[in-house]
Amino acid sequence: MLDLDRLRADTPGTDTVLHFNNAGAALPPQPVLDAQVQHLKREAAIGGYEAAAEAEERLQHTYNAIARMLGCDADEVALVENATRAWDMAFYAMPFTEGDRILTSRAAYASNHIACLQVAEQTGAAVEVVPSDASGQVDVAALRSMMDDHVALIALTHVPTNGGLVNPAAEVGKIAAEAGVPYLLDACQSAGQMPLPVDEIGCTMLSATGRKYLRGPRGTGFLYVQRDWIERLEPPLLDLHAATWTAPDAYEIHPDARRFETWENHVAGQVALGVAVDYALDRGLDAIFERNQHLARTLRRELDRLGGVTVHDQGRVRCGITTFSTEQAGAADLKAALRERNVNVSVSTPHSTRLDAEARALPDLIRASVHYYNTDEEIERMVAAVADALQP
Ligand SMILES: Cc1ncc(COP(=O)(O)O)c(C=O)c1O
Repeated sequence: MLDLDRLRADTPGTDTVLHFNNAGAALPPQPVLDAQVQHLKREAAIGGYEAAAEAEERLQHTYNAIARMLGCDADEVALVENATRAWDMAFYAMPFTEGDRILTSRAAYASNHIACLQVAEQTGAAVEVVPSDASGQVDVAALRSMMDDHVALIALTHVPTNGGLVNPAAEVGKIAAEAGVPYLLDACQSAGQMPLPVDEIGCTMLSATGRKYLRGPRGTGFLYVQRDWIERLEPPLLDLHAATWTAPDAYEIHPDARRFETWENHVAGQVALGVAVDYALDRGLDAIFERNQHLARTLRRELDRLGGVTVHDQGRVRCGITTFSTEQAGAADLKAALRERNVNVSVSTPHSTRLDAEARALPDLIRASVHYYNTDEEIERMVAAVADALQP
């Protein structure tokens, strides 16, 4: 059971704002904030390199905590700046050639799909979109029928940026494993709001960010690469941390996942990311997921009751993200009106998820994303603020 009073007491932002932008950046809990600020203070007091040396164990703990969350080994984890960089370091390391097929889904995030298009142009590989089924999730049977010897990668977005859909990641993993095809899971929007056991999911690579449902600092992210794949992936960028300069004309790439990292980093953020992962694991990812699903169901039901409001979420399984549009106002105007009422939401435009937006003819959407520290009473106040903002 989640102790809501304690959780809210731990979250200073809950005193000041109605935060429904958790899929943008969630409010950090006090221990995460403390870890970050304390490290910055040490940097100021004794020097940045010296503070990093002092924090070595805490930094190693971040790898261990992520490994515990994913059920993998710490040396299969790379710490990077954000989810996009994590995804790119894996994707651009794949040795695509002409005739290869990259299978993706309608929920694809813009940055990932842009990278697919660029690599297709450069190598002659083909990017193919697996259709969605009637529920909106990736059509697993269609994926199965698309598999052949030319499939070089399955790239799936677990939870899209523009809605509550949770794609059946483990069913896709079974197909990938049967075919022996690498499987890159974008878990940017799912990390921190549901369990992510990589062995059960069957992904070979997984990318995520710190600031969203994990409630970690901005500018943090991580990449998991399954051991058998690490040495088969040559990172597109190398530095003296990812590789060692062994002779004037030679270098060796790090044998573990650190080959995907860079030397210079936001150490305070990385230390605090470990605290954020611990915090999520201590609350329990099953309990967090259950509560987020409850809150989002309530929010969708209450929004549905408002005249002129259309909720757009799809999927057999749904999470804490809710998107909606209204007849009365454009998304940007409504977001601004809600901000004036001290309610945080964000806007999802078709540019972020073009495949899905075009398939469903979606307008700009308001994205209202709950997290476990939100309450039913906050949802009531948020929906009342929407109703108020939509008044003629
Ligand atoms: C599905 C998905 N993937 C990737 C990203 C990119 O994450 P980041 O901004 O940490 O690079 C986002 C950001 O919203 C996202 O929604």
